Amino acid sequence: MEEYKSRNESKVMTQTVSEVTVAQEQSIEKYRIIREPYYLSVKDEVSIFETAYRAKLPVMLKGPTGCGKTRFVEAMAYRLGRPLITVACHEDLSATDLVGRFLLEGDDTVWHDGPLTTAVRYGAICYLDEVVEARKDTIVLIHPLTDDRRILPVEKRGILLNAPPEFMLVISYNPGYQSVLKDLKQSTRQRFLSLEFDYPPAEAEAQIVAHEGGVNPATARDLVKIGEKVRNLKGHGLEEGVSTRLLVYAAQMIARGVEPVTACVIAIASPITDDHELQRSIREIVTTII
Ligand SMILES: Nc1ncnc2c1ncn2[C@@H]1O[C@H](COP(=O)(O)OP(=O)(O)OP(=O)(O)O)[C@@H](O)[C@H]1O
Ligand SMILES: [Mg+2]
Repeated sequence: MEEYKSRNESKVMTQTVSEVTVAQEQSIEKYRIIREPYYLSVKDEVSIFETAYRAKLPVMLKGPTGCGKTRFVEAMAYRLGRPLITVACHEDLSATDLVGRFLLEGDDTVWHDGPLTTAVRYGAICYLDEVVEARKDTIVLIHPLTDDRRILPVEKRGILLNAPPEFMLVISYNPGYQSVLKDLKQSTRQRFLSLEFDYPPAEAEAQIVAHEGGVNPATARDLVKIGEKVRNLKGHGLEEGVSTRLLVYAAQMIARGVEPVTACVIAIASPITDDHELQRSIREIVTTII
């Protein structure tokens, strides 16, 4: 990694920056994933992601909530041996929050790298979760990083950081929720490869629910059947189908002794809708299957 510093950057600042850098070299270790995350691959997403990483191309993960996007990135970071820095984007997230800022510490002004700068500096995978939520200036900031320049301008310090080959930017995006105002601009979209995620096919989802929820295969299959039927209600008053995450929650409650119908009500019917009529329909689905 090369760092372009302006020649006249003051000595004091250089010293301060090197101290900060040392502190962060230790702290990058906290982003390393020590234990292999459980991830059941559904299609060819693992090899595609690996190829994208080697080609130094950024990736966008699209898909509904709770279908495995975050777990996938964690598993890939582990597989590729890279630290993973995740940023949950929100409407107040500024470019400064991502890149870094000078902070007053005693009499010194000390530079603190933001998460994106840390990721570029150490060749980590940076995962911007729900990127459309971020402010426009924040999104534009990633443009030079996500085309063939692969640079991060750190304007406040007057430097450009070249991303090393190990750096990778991954964003997630749930196409269902966005208003037109919040949609990603074409100039942002067209900088990313895109992997589409969805709820895993029944057999894979049952394996996941059994593994993550600690229930036997038969119970896991029942929960997945419930999931499929509930997902069919989408469009009939239901805004979004039930996530794999919630099926895992139901399984976890059952595994801890909660009566199965109750577990499905509190983990499935109630979280996904406030409409009592719909909740009753979901309960009916549950009682016919369990
Ligand atoms: N393919 C999979 N392999 C292993 N676990 C999975 C898989 N898909 C889903 N899961 C399970 O579903 C849970 C939710 O997945 P995850 O948190 O990755 O969802 P997400 O797509 O990132 O959701 P959100 O958009 O809300 O952040 C995980 O904690 C895991 O238990
Ligand atoms: Mg997630």
